[in-house]
Amino acid sequence: MEIKGSKVLVTGAASGMGRATAIVMGKMGARLFLTDINQAGLEDTCKTISSKGGEVCKYKAFDISKYEEVKAFAEDIHKEFGPLNILVNVAGIAIFGQIEDMLHEHWKKVIDINLWGPIHGIECFVPEMIRAGKGGHIVTVSSTSGIIGLPWHAAYVTTKHGLVGLSEVMRYDLRKHNIGVSVICPGAVQTNMVNTVQILNTSRQAFEKNKSKWDKVAISSEKAAELIIKSITKKKFLVITSADIKILFFLKRYMFPLYNVAMRLLCKFMDKELFQGRKI
Ligand SMILES: NC(=O)c1ccc[n+]([C@@H]2O[C@H](COP(=O)([O-])OP(=O)(O)OC[C@H]3O[C@@H](n4cnc5c(N)ncnc54)[C@H](O)[C@@H]3O)[C@@H](O)[C@H]2O)c1
Repeated sequence: MEIKGSKVLVTGAASGMGRATAIVMGKMGARLFLTDINQAGLEDTCKTISSKGGEVCKYKAFDISKYEEVKAFAEDIHKEFGPLNILVNVAGIAIFGQIEDMLHEHWKKVIDINLWGPIHGIECFVPEMIRAGKGGHIVTVSSTSGIIGLPWHAAYVTTKHGLVGLSEVMRYDLRKHNIGVSVICPGAVQTNMVNTVQILNTSRQAFEKNKSKWDKVAISSEKAAELIIKSITKKKFLVITSADIKILFFLKRYMFPLYNVAMRLLCKFMDKELFQGRKI
């Protein structure tokens, strides 16, 4: 699928992977529709794109977890510009913790934004794409947590596995409409998420220590953007961005006893790291 001239909506465009993807797509000649909850960050992304000669057709700041807001934005776009060609679901948040520390509000917030957010995008934009009969592409940023049940990630894993399942269904259901589907499962990526992630009931010291470990292995958001865009142009369904996660996923599929041992060790390691300073 060509990026140049395509009408592309990117969620989470104020920061990290969403911002990097929008900027590169702008340079490639996409006609952009951008959204994020962060108005100032979104405006900054739009200014950067325009300064490099890119085209932002429309942008609006709102909460992706609110169906009515997504619907209103979709109606405005459809009225003025017609259906999208490409939908890129990126916006998301992270709250990690042990089951006994997670309150209902933690579960709800993660599920509302990470799962309902992309669902809202899909239900408000994809039917128009289908009706237009011109094909298209849907990319959703899931996570390593979409294919591996990472310790401490219960709510996050719930949403990200949901996105991989949803993408697999769409991959086959939308084939007859010539709409391609990709799901991106990044490992660590250098974005603002390292500052906004909430790890429940861990110590500040443990958090900071793990933050610097994360920084060392993380790829840049520009590299992630390149892989996101390649998934569209090369029609790749599942994109895993780092070698360690590819190995773990291989073990899960083909050598489960080894995977089982690796996951027990990972769980022990994360407990040791994150319970620091806290009585178990
Ligand atoms: N950074 C990583 O290491 C990593 C790894 C795997 C997956 N991911 C996933 O990548 C996606 C992008 O995250 P990122 O790393 O670029 O982080 P980021 O924090 O830099 O960007 C996320 C963006 O989503 C926006 N957002 C948050 N809540 C929103 C809401 N309710 N409505 C609209 N927008 C909202 C934020 O304002 C922010 O601009 C997320 O879905 C995340 O789960 C990140």
